[in-house]
Amino acid sequence: MKMLRTTILQFAALQVLFILLGVGADYIPPSRFDGFVYGKGNLNLLDTVLIEAFYDPVCPDSRDSWPPLKQALHHYASRVSLLLHLLPLPYHDNAFVTSRALHIVNNLNASATFPLLEWFFRYQENFYGAQTRNLSRASIIEEVVKSATQVVGSSYYKTIKNGFNDTTTDIQTRVSFKYAASRGVYGTPFFYVNGFLLPDTGAAVDYKTWRKVIDPLVGAKNKKSIQNEESLHFFL
Ligand SMILES: *[C@@H]1O[C@H](CO)[C@@H](O)[C@H](O)[C@H]1NC(C)=O
Ligand SMILES: *[C@@H]1O[C@H](CO)[C@@H](O)[C@H](O)[C@H]1NC(C)=O
Ligand SMILES: *[C@@H]1O[C@H](CO)[C@@H](O)[C@H](O)[C@H]1NC(C)=O
Repeated sequence: MKMLRTTILQFAALQVLFILLGVGADYIPPSRFDGFVYGKGNLNLLDTVLIEAFYDPVCPDSRDSWPPLKQALHHYASRVSLLLHLLPLPYHDNAFVTSRALHIVNNLNASATFPLLEWFFRYQENFYGAQTRNLSRASIIEEVVKSATQVVGSSYYKTIKNGFNDTTTDIQTRVSFKYAASRGVYGTPFFYVNGFLLPDTGAAVDYKTWRKVIDPLVGAKNKKSIQNEESLHFFL
């Protein structure tokens, strides 16, 4: 009995030591900030209104929220930046594999990342639910690799396939997950505007809502102060 208690105490002490040493967390923090910058990528993100979106490539709500957000990004151009983070949700089939494909492709050609995300959104139904129930992990990776080559070109087939054997891309995808978790994000899509959570209004954020939130922040002209207050009410 005493022996057991000592063992338990030793085990607990060891755990505390591991936590202090950060054992098992040696890839945090990562070598670069998590996320994909949209478009030409205004490199000075802090000089713009910064939207952070947390998406899962196989999440229908993420898919539906993208067109209005994209429209808003094009409307504001260089005044607004988007940093996209991935949160592969455990209850979405193949969320991790498709997220990893985005990291693999982003490493090869950063201009292809958002086109691939749009590809996954368009053919999302092929990647979850009954469709994939009988498929092996290897055959799903094969499908995902083929999808990626549709976007970046078939000459990249081998390179993308190898990407799935490269632990770096596994770690990058884990970092995305851990980053989202560390921000308290537990679903997709989640949006932050200049670091503040855009509250869930119960409805999808449409283009009109994006305009209402961002117009006052970029000092759009001809807006009555009442609209400013309205926008603030999203956050306060
Ligand atoms: C990178 O991807 C973009 C978008 O898919 C494409 O237009 C461009 O040709 C690609 N560049 C290379 C070097 O493959
Ligand atoms: C999966 O396999 C089961 C058992 O063999 C079969 O009954 C079912 O129809 C299959 N589902 C699909 C989507 O192929
Ligand atoms: C990836 O690794 C598996 C198992 O180690 C191996 O069978 C496969 O040939 C590798 N694929 C590539 C494209 O290197």
